[in-house]
Parts: sequence; C-alpha cells; structure tokens
Amino acid sequence: MAVVWRLLELALVLSVCLTPALSVDRSNFKTCDQSSFCRRQRKLETGPSQYRALLGSAKLTADKLEIQLINDKTKVSLLLEVFGLHGNMTRIKINELKPLKPRYEVPDVLVGTPTPENLQVSGQDDNTLELSLGGGVNKLLVTGSPFRLDILSGQDLVLSVNSRGLLYFEHLRARKDTLSAKVSSAVGNMWHKVKNLFSSDSEKTDAASESDSEIPGEEEVVKEEENKKEEEDEPGMWEETFKTHTDSKPNGPSSLGLDFSLPGFEHVYGIPEHADNLRLRTTESTDPYRLYNLDVFQYELYNTMALYGAVPLLLAHNIHRTLGIFWLNAAETWVDISSNTAGKTLFGTMLQYMQGGGETPQTDVHWMSESGIIDVFLLLGPSPSDVFKQYASLTGTQALPPYFSLGYHQCRWNYNDEEDVRSVDAGFDEHDIPYDFIWLDIEHADGKRYFTWDANKFPTPRNMLDGLKEKRRKMVAIVDPHIKIDGGYRIHSEIRSRNYYVKTKDGSDYEGWCWPGSAAYPDFTNPDMRAWWSSMFSYDHYEGSTENLFVWNDMNEPSVFNGPEVTMHKDAVHWGEWEHRDVHNIYGLYVHQATAEGLIHRSGGKERPFVLTRAFFAGSQRYGAVWTGDNAAEWGHLKISIPMCLSLGLVGISFCGADVGGFFKNPEPELLLRWYQAGAYQPFFRAHAHLDTPRREPWLHGETNTDLIRTVLRERYTLLPYWYTLFYNAHRDAEPVMRPLWVEFPTDVSIFAMDDQYMLGSALLVHPVTEANAREVEIYLPGAGEVWYDVRSYQSYKAPQKFYLPVTISSIPVYQRGGSIIPRKDRPRRSSECMQTDPFTLYVALDLQGEAQGELYLDDGHSFNYQQNEFLYRQFNYSHGQLTSSSLDLHGKFETPAWLERVVIIGASKPNTISLRLSDGTETQLEFEYDSQTSVLTVRKPGVNISSDFTMSLR
Ligand code: NOJ
Repeated sequence: MAVVWRLLELALVLSVCLTPALSVDRSNFKTCDQSSFCRRQRKLETGPSQYRALLGSAKLTADKLEIQLINDKTKVSLLLEVFGLHGNMTRIKINELKPLKPRYEVPDVLVGTPTPENLQVSGQDDNTLELSLGGGVNKLLVTGSPFRLDILSGQDLVLSVNSRGLLYFEHLRARKDTLSAKVSSAVGNMWHKVKNLFSSDSEKTDAASESDSEIPGEEEVVKEEENKKEEEDEPGMWEETFKTHTDSKPNGPSSLGLDFSLPGFEHVYGIPEHADNLRLRTTESTDPYRLYNLDVFQYELYNTMALYGAVPLLLAHNIHRTLGIFWLNAAETWVDISSNTAGKTLFGTMLQYMQGGGETPQTDVHWMSESGIIDVFLLLGPSPSDVFKQYASLTGTQALPPYFSLGYHQCRWNYNDEEDVRSVDAGFDEHDIPYDFIWLDIEHADGKRYFTWDANKFPTPRNMLDGLKEKRRKMVAIVDPHIKIDGGYRIHSEIRSRNYYVKTKDGSDYEGWCWPGSAAYPDFTNPDMRAWWSSMFSYDHYEGSTENLFVWNDMNEPSVFNGPEVTMHKDAVHWGEWEHRDVHNIYGLYVHQATAEGLIHRSGGKERPFVLTRAFFAGSQRYGAVWTGDNAAEWGHLKISIPMCLSLGLVGISFCGADVGGFFKNPEPELLLRWYQAGAYQPFFRAHAHLDTPRREPWLHGETNTDLIRTVLRERYTLLPYWYTLFYNAHRDAEPVMRPLWVEFPTDVSIFAMDDQYMLGSALLVHPVTEANAREVEIYLPGAGEVWYDVRSYQSYKAPQKFYLPVTISSIPVYQRGGSIIPRKDRPRRSSECMQTDPFTLYVALDLQGEAQGELYLDDGHSFNYQQNEFLYRQFNYSHGQLTSSSLDLHGKFETPAWLERVVIIGASKPNTISLRLSDGTETQLEFEYDSQTSVLTVRKPGVNISSDFTMSLR
C-alpha cells in the first residue's frame, strides 16, 4: 500500500512539475560574458587603484572641486568633479580630461540644476584632502594615491568610492584601422624633428614647421602602442558580434565603471527592473544585475536578467541610515553586488559583529556602463524618506494621476470590435461590478497603424467613446512607437518627410520588424520629434479620439523583433549624432513623455494625462504609470508582482501594477481570484490577457467567483479616497504609495528582506495570499508597543507579533495600524466618477494611547486646477476623546457637496454622548452604536461637509 501511495505522490509531483512553467530563451540575451565591456570589467581584480588623484591640480570653487586623475598604466588623464549639493547629497562626475570627442551626458532626466552647497577644505596632508560637506555634517576625504573617496558622517564612515580600485575608464581613441597610420606618421614626425636638429634652416621640412602641439609626443606614441596591445588583447573592443548581429562600434571601446563600498550595510534594494526579490542578491555566483531595456519573451523569475525598464538607483538600508546611489547613465549597465556576509546567517553575522569578533558587515557595489561618463549622485539620507526626497529633488515626483485611473482597468488583447466593447461594458453593469477603463490593444488599429481605427471593427469610435462617457467610463487605446512603413500612412509619411526617424550607421532610416511588419522608429530623443508626436494627439489629428480616450505605450524599449536581443542596433544613430548605445535606456522614457505631453496639449494644458508605459528610466514617474510586462498565469508570477512593484516604488515610480490573471496561459479560477485580491491592493490595477487565451472577464468563472471578484473590486473602490491621498503624498513629498515594511519600521531588522507583505501608505499592511490551496498565511505585524486591527473583523493584535492566520478563498489579509485614520467611500457604484460626490466614512483605528491621525486629499480628480489651489487637504486628529478635522493646507480651496456620513472608531470604549461642534459654534448630538465584542463605535451621520472644520467629542 505504501508503495502505491509513493507512486501516486510521485505522479502528483510530476504532474505539477510537468505543467510547463514558461521560460525565457536565454540564448536571445547576452550574459555579462557575452557583453564585451562587462567581461572586460568583471575580470578586473580588486586592489589598489591604477588611478592617482593629482592633489596639486585641485581647483576649488564655491560648490565644486576639480581634480585631475591619472591612470599610471595608460597615462590617460581624467577629470574628477565633486559637487556639494543642497539636501545632503554629493555628485561625482568623472570624464576624460580631453576626450577625442564629447561623451554622452544624459539630458532631460534631472528636473533642474541641483542646488549647490558650499564645499570647504577642512584639512589636508600630502596624500589627502579633506572637505566639509552639508555645512560640516559630513566630510569627504580625497586620497591621492591610490585614488579613493570616503564620506564620513561624524566619526562614521558612510561610503567609500573606488576603495576596491575598480575605477575604469576606456578613453576614446582612434579606430584600430586608422591607428597604425597615425603611429607611423607620428614616428615620421619624430624622425623629421631629429633630422631638423642636425640640418641647416633651409633644409627644414614642412612637418617640422608645424607647431609642436600638433605632433604626438613620444609619450602619446607609447600610449597608442599600449592601446594597440589592449586592442589585440581584447576581442569585442572594436567590433562585437552576438548571434547574427554585428555591432560596428565606430567609436571603439568606451566603457566605464566604479565601485562603492557600504560599511555596515547588509541590505540593498532598487535598480529595477528585475523579476527578483525586493532585497538584492549578491552576484558573486550569478551574472550582475543588468539594466538594459529589453522585450523579454516569457521572462523567468528570480534572476538578474534585464527586463523592460531600467532605473539606476540603488538604496541601502540599516538600522541607522538609508542611502542611495544614483548612477545617471542611459547606456547598457551591469551592477555587481558582493558582501562580506553573504552566505552567513543574519543572526550569526550580527552576533559576531556585536561581540567584536567579526569584520563590519559590508556590501560592495560595482557599476559598469558601456558608454557616456561617470555621473553619480550619493544620496546620504539619513532616513528612508530623506532618500526619497533627495532622489525626487533630482528626477521629480510621481505625476498626480487622474482619480479615475486608480479604479479598475479591463484589458485584453483584444476587444474585437465596437459590439464586443459594448457587451463587455454591459457585462459589468449586469453583474454589478465597478470598472473605469476598457482597453484596446493593437488589433483595433488599421493594420497596426497607430492613431487609426480598423474601419470594419471600429467604424464609429466617437460613438463608442460617447457610449462609455455616458456611463462615466473611459477607454485606453494602444499607440506603439514603431511605425509601419507604408507610403499611404500619414504618420509614416510625415515622420519620413521631416526626417525624424532613427538612422542606421550608414545614414538611412533604421528599419526593423515589429507588429506591423516592416517598421521605422521615430527618434524620440529629438525634441522636435517629441513635439510633433505630442501634436498628433490633438483631436483633429487623432481622428475618432475624444477626451475619455487615453493611451498605452508598449514596445518602447524599443522592441525590434529582428534586432540584436530583440532591440535596436547599438550603432544606430540618433539626433545629435549620438549612438543608440548611449541613449538606449532613456528612449522609452521619451516616448512616454511625448505621449503624456500630447494628452496635456490636446486639452489646452488643462487635463491630467493617463499614459501607461512598458519601458522606463529614471524620471519616468513624471509621466504616468508602468506595468511589469508579459507575466504568466502562474502562482510565482503573482507572488513576484509584489517585490517588482515595491522596487519600483523605492525608485520613485509608485504607479505600478502587474497584469492581473497573468498575460500568458490560463489562470485556474483560484489563481485568477487571488490575483484580483492582490491586484486590488496594488497601485495600477488592470486585468490583461494574451490574444490566444480564452476570455476571462470577471463573470466567466462561476457565480461564487463572480461574487468574490465583485467584493474585491468594490473594496478597491471604497478605498479610492485613501489611494488618491497616497498618490498626492507621492506627488508632493515623494513618499512611495506601496512601500516595504522597513520604510515604516526602519529599525526592525527582521523585516528588511520581507516582500510577501508590505505597507500601503503608513496605515495599511497587506499580505496577499499568493499560494495555491492556501489554508493559512504567516503574518508579521511590526512595531513594538503598537496595535493593528483586521480591517474586516476588527480583531486587534498587539505588535510585534507573528502568527499563522487561517485563510479561506475570500480572505485578503489587510490590517489597519492603530493610530491611523482612513477615509473611505462605502457606497458601491458603477465607476469612480459616479462616486465623486458620494459621502465619506472615516475609519479611526486607535493606538494604545487612544490616539489616531489621518489625512484626506481631494480635488476635481482630473484637471491641473489643483495647481491653482483648487484642492482640499484635510487632517483628522483623534486624541483625548475628540476627533477634530482641520485644514492641512490653508491655501487649498475646493467646493464639494461630499459630506461625512459615518465615523467608525476601532478600539474605542463606549461613550455616554457624542456631540459635534462646528467652527461657528453650533453643536449637535449624534447617534451611535457600540459593539462591545469588537470595541467598535459607529457614529451615525455627522452630516457635515467634508471640507468643514469640526470637533466631535465623546464623553
Ligand atoms: C506586448 C505587451 O506587453 C502586451 O501587453 C500586449 O498585449 C502585446 N504587446 C500586444 O500589443
């Protein structure tokens, strides 16, 4: 019998294992070893740097220190610039002192020139220069030989640069084929010089009469000779072939790299986009994390491969400090992470460290980029929110999205025609399920000619859009950045005639394969092209579009089906003669920017845009939302959506979501339901599915599942006021909407790597169920001396506490933190716009001292009028039995009929009376109910307008 069971068990395991998990074809994408600059840099040995800082060359101006660096081996000089920046930041730039031609410096990412702060020399010896930064709070030590930089805060070493000696800078040089000619001419010139020394004036040659500076000196000839050796030594420097593609590398090798050591840090985060955990892994035994925007078909989980977007910001956190390293470079980049504690248990290292027996835990980070310059910002925190603000002061904050875009989005590839759209829309009403947006994928356009409609399937787009408008709903249509090459297609002809396409290295328009077949790629790095593209969204240019049509930018890595690694050739040429190599990672941002600006312009600058993008870069948060691309209907993909969005939130991109249900494959009903439950608590909430999958609208999975999905969607809609307030805080103060636990509880080491639960703002802790057949989940509620409440049962939990929560198919573990107040709208409706003037309920969760605070931000939800102070920003405060409502920003004025219909006080005791006093002195008694089982007090109908100041007193 036992044998039979074993066999059955085995069969079960096999059947699970044999359900093919999707997997990427790795051979389509380069490993570090196949990317020649990464290979060259990764084999550098750590040790004393080859560079020396010539301290004698130091030039100090008010905000900047300049020093020359020299490579003792190649004799090539670099220029180091160190800037003190306002707000506890330091910028370090390193470029060649005299590059053969300018090297790319990433434009358009910084929102302005960072505010300088005084740098002062505070000490000096033969080999060290000491500067005071941040008004003397921090010190920067520049060591001459070997060159390194150290930043100290008080006596503590916070961060070192080049302490492992990995500074690397491939100087631009003449091509190999022209080099030997140059060397022989230099040698020839020397011969002339020598000859002239011994000849009479009349015999002097022309060459010798040229000025000395034009003649390469002996040192340079030697240097060129050395370079020649380098060329021969390193295949891939002057030309590189991957599969069938050859990169002609007209500028030869140009890569750069630098190391950063973080003593005392064991946890690093950020550098999205990767399908990996929140806490970054050490990469000693894997490839480095790669940042190179790529369309990766069927991406795999838990690895360091590149994906669609790239944000070169890494964060480090320990119980004392959070810091950030922002590496402003848009070329292919790899990041190696190592640590002296890798492989040891956290407890083991901490114990060892505390007992003074071990070395300080340390994380080392090595950045390597293919071209450009070294331009790096050190964000010195010290708190998590300081780092978020520092980064936002450089690259901007999350755009405030239209309110309705925080509702639910129904997408699939494709809704086939107008009738399909109408019937899906009606389905939501029939099943009483709210939604805000229905989406059209590439099939809606005439032969994938974006900005057009397929005349058979969508003959009357305006009528269709008006139909949605009557229901107070919207639509999104896809507009991709590859343009069908077709003389009869207006968009193509105009771009061609304006000469706005990206060029090949030979100067013709760059062509590649994408959805429409043969396509060309508008050069979005060209500001004129972007302005033109923006103008295409005006209602007269984009026929059939109306103000409730919004846009989706896909394939903007850019995806080129027949290009190297499914993207553009690196030697393609952009505006300003820059190579694609230099601009690759910022291309997608420009597409997103031009589209978002187009939607703003079509409204005469009045309306906020909504644009979703797949590719992104540092600064993309300014233009809209991002999703995690083509995931799969697998439990692992549901689970990883959490760390993927958390990582994006840490680098300023709060408006993130994953395709609910999974893009590829078919989710079983349980997975789909769990995905809805998780997605409802992620910022961008959209169901999407591949063309080949069966339909999966919410009501197609049996009555019970329909009911459960309806419940989840309604729950999302009740919380929209809270979501919107969080987005306002992201927009105003750079606070991530969805945030790792450590952001709220920065000294609890046990949560530093936790990514199966997270915080929404500072008030809600969410732990979605992401396992099949889950019977329980392990919940951890952090915060010594704090209390949490289950949002449905109101059961209270003292923290810190770890426990197993039994779950059923309807469970979505969400806890409200004691001490918080959350505004909600509890009346279910068809769409968020229908709820605009609905009354509010405040959920007041008391902490153990009987206190709570919360906020509500409110405006018209769609225009830029909030920038003219048309908004309400309210603060609620509960203390000593009194709830007060006051304005957090007295500039804000916004009229709304919305009123307060209920106050629910959780963790309360029963009062005798409750009265409400307004600012004009009028006082009314309020009705209430008290549930002694749950300690929940429900105050009925305070009835005041939500914009009123009031005091509610419990006696
Ligand atoms: C790839 C996108 O990631 C996916 O969401 C979309 O459906 C297809 N392109 C077709 O446009």
